[in-house]
Amino acid sequence: MTVKRYLPFASAVLLTTVSAVAFASEPWSMPGEEAIEPYTPSAANAGAQPFAGDQMFQAFGGQAGVARIVTDLLDRSFADARISDIFKGHDRVRLQRVLVEQFCFLLGGPCAYSGRDMATAHKDMGVQPGDMNALVENLQLAMEEEGIPFQTQNRFLAKLAPMKRDIVDK
Ligand code: HEM
Repeated sequence: MTVKRYLPFASAVLLTTVSAVAFASEPWSMPGEEAIEPYTPSAANAGAQPFAGDQMFQAFGGQAGVARIVTDLLDRSFADARISDIFKGHDRVRLQRVLVEQFCFLLGGPCAYSGRDMATAHKDMGVQPGDMNALVENLQLAMEEEGIPFQTQNRFLAKLAPMKRDIVDK
């Protein structure tokens, strides 16, 4: 009797385990995105601890403000002669999604970061210190365009700055 009652539950667990094992090594993707090698998502992949509270997230205009800033940052970076070669051919749909998640999460917004860690994401890309400066300039222009106060911009840039050691090629 007891065995019968638990049978559906046990088979569901078995099925989930079997499919998790079967698909764990398969490249996967979100709709509209290119397939990538599997990895383990974790908040630690975002590269920094989020700001406490949601004041920073609100100062960035919430989800809509963050999305506009990321769109502007990517528009500028894909068109920027200094760094466009690095971006060329990469999946912009995924980049937009995970950058919004990362910025929203770090700013204290209600988001989880599902992307890869910074070292893996930028591996073998050959990013130089000057490329990092170009991207930061583009981010500053995008934040300026959105009317983010200067001090708030700098607080966010200070949060991102230590990631340089994982992004710039050694
Ligand atoms: C603090 C600075 C930076 C942050 C926070 C950042 C963040 C990210 C994130 C979240 C991803 C996506 C990870 C994923 O797909 O799972 C990514 C990928 C990427 N980043 Fe950055 N990044 C930074 C600097 C740069 C710089 C300086 C460049 C080049 C000039 C760059 C070029 C790229 C490219 C091309 C990808 C796509 C990788 C792929 O398609 O596999 N990033 N970055």
